[in-house]
Amino acid sequence: MERLARHPDHQARLIEEIHAGQHEFCDAVVKETLLLRPVLSLVGRRLKAPMQIGGVSLPAGVTVAPSIYLMHRRADIYPDPGRFRPERFLEQRAGTYTWIPFGGGVRRCLGAAFAEYEMRIVLSTLFDSCTVQPTNERSEPVGRRGITHVPGRGATAVFGCGVAVLLRLVLVGGC
Ligand code: HEM
Repeated sequence: MERLARHPDHQARLIEEIHAGQHEFCDAVVKETLLLRPVLSLVGRRLKAPMQIGGVSLPAGVTVAPSIYLMHRRADIYPDPGRFRPERFLEQRAGTYTWIPFGGGVRRCLGAAFAEYEMRIVLSTLFDSCTVQPTNERSEPVGRRGITHVPGRGATAVFGCGVAVLLRLVLVGGC
């Protein structure tokens, strides 16, 4: 919601697509948001056996933590990595080992497909009849709530749904 409020061009494209009964761009918006605003910054694993990672030998028992945040900011995989550009997921697939907001391997998030579907339904329903605008100029930094990332200033936004309503979005899990 916060990213779309600050990118009216992408919001307009999303609304156009929803009115046409499609969801490819909406799914790309969800993927791009989870790329740039991952809910968690890393996942953890404890090695059961010695392992070589990136040329470093690690003994059994060591905890390793693949960084979701750093992976998603790799310019060799995601050119112009800081820019909100949902269309990158129309041009390239979300890689199993390079798009990891839900972790990976056998312990990958059990609710990943459900969560993505839920986001599609919420965005499609909302933007079918509403538009959203930010309440100030400055872009929203990422904040923390416990171990999760959340919008740093609470993602306050103005919704235009016929009558303008001021909503404070408390987005558990971040945006
Ligand atoms: C945007 C929403 C969500 C995000 C970003 C998210 C992210 C994650 C991440 C990063 C992990 C750790 C994966 C790993 O260690 O490789 C995880 C685990 C898990 N998630 Fe989610 N999750 C989301 C929504 C959900 C939902 C909606 C459900 C249930 C309906 C769910 C159920 C689980 C479960 C059960 C695990 C533990 C899996 C295991 O250890 O085998 N998650 N999630």
